[in-house]
Amino acid sequence: MDHSESGLTSTREDSIDRKHIILGVSGSIAAYKACTLASLLVKAGACVHPVLTRGGARFITLETMAALCGRPVLVDEFDQADPREMSHIALAERADAVVLAPASANLIARLAAGMANDMLTLLLTVTRSPILLAPAMNTNMWTHPIVTANVERLLSVGYEIVQPASGRLACGTIGAGKLAEPEEIFAALLRLMERRSLRAEGDLAACRILVTAGPTREPIDAVRFLGNRSSGKMGYALAAAARNRGASVLLISGPTHLQAPPGVETVQVLTASQMRDAVRQNLAGVDIVIAAAAVADFTIDSPANSKLRRSSGPLTLNLKPTVDILAEIGADKGGRYHVGFAAEVGDPVPSAREKLAAKNLDLVVANDVAARDSGFDVDTNRVVMIGRDVPDEPLPLLAKSEVAERILDRIVRDRASTTQPLIHSAVSAGP
Ligand code: PMT
Repeated sequence: MDHSESGLTSTREDSIDRKHIILGVSGSIAAYKACTLASLLVKAGACVHPVLTRGGARFITLETMAALCGRPVLVDEFDQADPREMSHIALAERADAVVLAPASANLIARLAAGMANDMLTLLLTVTRSPILLAPAMNTNMWTHPIVTANVERLLSVGYEIVQPASGRLACGTIGAGKLAEPEEIFAALLRLMERRSLRAEGDLAACRILVTAGPTREPIDAVRFLGNRSSGKMGYALAAAARNRGASVLLISGPTHLQAPPGVETVQVLTASQMRDAVRQNLAGVDIVIAAAAVADFTIDSPANSKLRRSSGPLTLNLKPTVDILAEIGADKGGRYHVGFAAEVGDPVPSAREKLAAKNLDLVVANDVAARDSGFDVDTNRVVMIGRDVPDEPLPLLAKSEVAERILDRIVRDRASTTQPLIHSAVSAGP
């Protein structure tokens, strides 16, 4: 099991009790393991709604699943669990979570393409509930670039994954692609449900959070600037997630093409110096600072007021370092919780650890910005969270929206563990 993904120290089975779980089963020899998973879920008190693809129904019988779950099994897009309602809408809306185990290459491809040509894919295009994917297939299929791209596509829209194990597959191959054990899938679903229910409780209510996002632009002349590839997606995802969890959020953003998240107070800036001013002016009352912005490390010493001409010949730009905003506000941060990012090429952890100390941070989120699927201007990110005197917490490739949630989960846990209970004085506060 990937303990790095656990995120939570314990799981509560009550997070699944009486919850409606769609169990999607597609065509794979591993479909028999879905029976054990169904049984684990039912024993934990979940209302399990089995939905099989036509391929899934070739590997296990409808009667087995119906008996284990105590409910009719849906396969065809016209199947109805209850003639008074449209199953693909009613069930999709009632579901608290969906688990796809096993998820075949074919199911993954259909979902990535947005197809809705059987009951399971129909339900998955309707539901807005969390979806846990447990793939199973032959090693060559699992490592095929198209399957990899399809899985990344699903992760980028918020699916979570239980990685397949390596071992001897039914086809005789030894390699990756073996469905994770039902107990592991069950545990991952419990963690997912627990995380979601904690977030829904508004665990950041009463917190004021300042988030920086996007790039900065350092003018070279009247029309040109030095910039970087930050799109703002990571910072905006953090701001939106913090707002959803009840925080009052101030977003200080460099230039991006993104819409300011509704309900988030947003200050637009251009340069590193403007970002520094905006941060400093808005620190009063802030409990948590999250610096996801890619702030320029250098600015042009004296930018030209007019447009520089090529005809003037070779040009030398004099660069001077910008002020390190995080280090500056970290010097006297008091009880504020500071999160910095570390954007590195290659293994980001060693430099991130240096930044943790140099900027007096509580947490550094390290990302490798050279990777194709993480860092700048993509919808997914793969980060390692690095704190003081605790083991590093690497996360798998996730949608930036989910990375944002995991960072906030971590902040909530860290702050809860350092908050000392108030010791009330036994002495009366009377006159
Ligand atoms: O915007 P996206 O396209 O979604 O991309 C996301 C991201 C790659 C920009 C984001 O995940 C990220 O890594 N942000 C930090 C980028 C960066 O500037 O990293 P750094 O290692 O150079 O800086 C370390 C930290 O110091 C950062 O928190 C940065 O905001 C801060 N800093 C840097 C320079 C400076 N003058 N002042 C600062 O406060």
